[in-house]
Amino acid sequence: MSTHPIGHVVSEDGTRRSLEAEPGQSLMTVLREHDLPLAAICGGCLSCATCHVYVDAAWVDRLLPPESGEIELLACDPTYRPGASRLSCQIQIVDEIDGLVVTVAPQA
Ligand code: FES
Repeated sequence: MSTHPIGHVVSEDGTRRSLEAEPGQSLMTVLREHDLPLAAICGGCLSCATCHVYVDAAWVDRLLPPESGEIELLACDPTYRPGASRLSCQIQIVDEIDGLVVTVAPQA
């Protein structure tokens, strides 16, 4: 099974890292496996918003659009940025996102 590169992940402190991900994983799982500071309290059940990331503008339209429940949850987060904010547990690792660039949102 080949892995997919995630181009850059930017941490809260500005550190940039390139990661490798297995197909079918959620982005949240990949970020946690690489010790990025995500609480991801609900484990991907779409009920906590503690897996919040900002997707680089060049990538926003290349991802599947968020479900309404994802936007509702994100909109309650004071660090929500319309158009850029996503829940990393809702982003699946597929061929089309090789090179994805995201920034970990500040943890509330
Ligand atoms: S881990 Fe809880 S919404 Fe993503």
